[in-house]
Amino acid sequence: MSGTAKKLIDELNINKHLDRDKWITLLSDWDDRDREYAAKIAREISERIYGKNIYIRGIVEFSNVCKNDCLYCGIRRSNKNAQRYRLTDDEILMCCDEGYEEGFRTFVLQCGEDSAYSAERMANIIRRIKEKYPDCAVTLSLGEMEYDEYKLMREAGADRYLLRHETANEEHYKKLHPAEMSFSHRMKCLEDLKSLGYQTGAGIMVGSPYQTVECLADDMLFFERFKPEMIGIGPFLPHKNTPFCNEAKGSYELTLFLLSLCRIMLPNVLLPATTALGTIRPDGREQGVLSGANVIMPNLSPTAVRKKYMLYDGKICTEDSADQCKMCIHARMKRIGYVVKVSRGDYSYDKDSDLR
Ligand code: 5AD
Ligand code: FES
Repeated sequence: MSGTAKKLIDELNINKHLDRDKWITLLSDWDDRDREYAAKIAREISERIYGKNIYIRGIVEFSNVCKNDCLYCGIRRSNKNAQRYRLTDDEILMCCDEGYEEGFRTFVLQCGEDSAYSAERMANIIRRIKEKYPDCAVTLSLGEMEYDEYKLMREAGADRYLLRHETANEEHYKKLHPAEMSFSHRMKCLEDLKSLGYQTGAGIMVGSPYQTVECLADDMLFFERFKPEMIGIGPFLPHKNTPFCNEAKGSYELTLFLLSLCRIMLPNVLLPATTALGTIRPDGREQGVLSGANVIMPNLSPTAVRKKYMLYDGKICTEDSADQCKMCIHARMKRIGYVVKVSRGDYSYDKDSDLR
């Protein structure tokens, strides 16, 4: 165990801050014992705020059509092998119906950047879900849009929005995205979402090509400044039909370590143990929870389309039904001493809230 890493983890826990140099030092030199030390602290914090409860979100991947061409992503527009699909509004509602029955109280509507689903159309879908299920939260994950569009959907009742920033380092951003995409617009979107009162999620892939410890330090400083209500962190996994097909996977251990560090720095953050983490290791999501994560996001998409929403190779749960995933998650959480909670699972703004 490196004495320096341990000291820096303690400092982060006390001050909720490390400067850039210290982040670089910490992320450059740590071992499994340091990681386990951070995980223990993270777990204690998570338990103090959210108890042993794990919140589940049902993701409806309703279209894999995408106008973007992110170099890492399996549904990028240049992937001519991807079989494209779109669900109808009624089909989206049917996924929510099934999800509600299974105990989901948050629906995450996710798609590629597909102009067939305008903000008006989404607002209509959101209103329908909210009328039918007023006790549920609606989370959107639709990519970059303009302020007025985000506003319209917020006014229709959307509660949360997930938009990973992917990297807080502009040079790195340019290496992951085509020239027509811009780092400043991505950041503006995140600011817009926050200002509209969405519980906002940012996040990164760990080990994306060209990522350095300096990039990760910038990500941690960005999280500290922006204070997202949610942080999505999973390992980068290559997809065979992308320019990054031969790149190495991200590190499983570093993903867990970063989850713990996020929990320590932002105690109340909603932190999913992501599908990518469950893909890189069979018990990745359990280990994510034991490292401080408190959210799991199983799939609610119809089994017929699941294989088509392949952001990376090997994605889990593509053969399973919503019901099977729910049972699976319950069993997995029970095995490690946690319980799946049937509730919206909002961000706890107050440390001493009664969520325990
Ligand atoms: N590996 C891991 N995560 C990926 N994502 C996209 N492609 C990959 C990949 N190859 C993540 C991105 C995106 C989210 C929806 O999925 O971070 O924001
Ligand atoms: Fe889908 Fe386990 S969560 S099968």
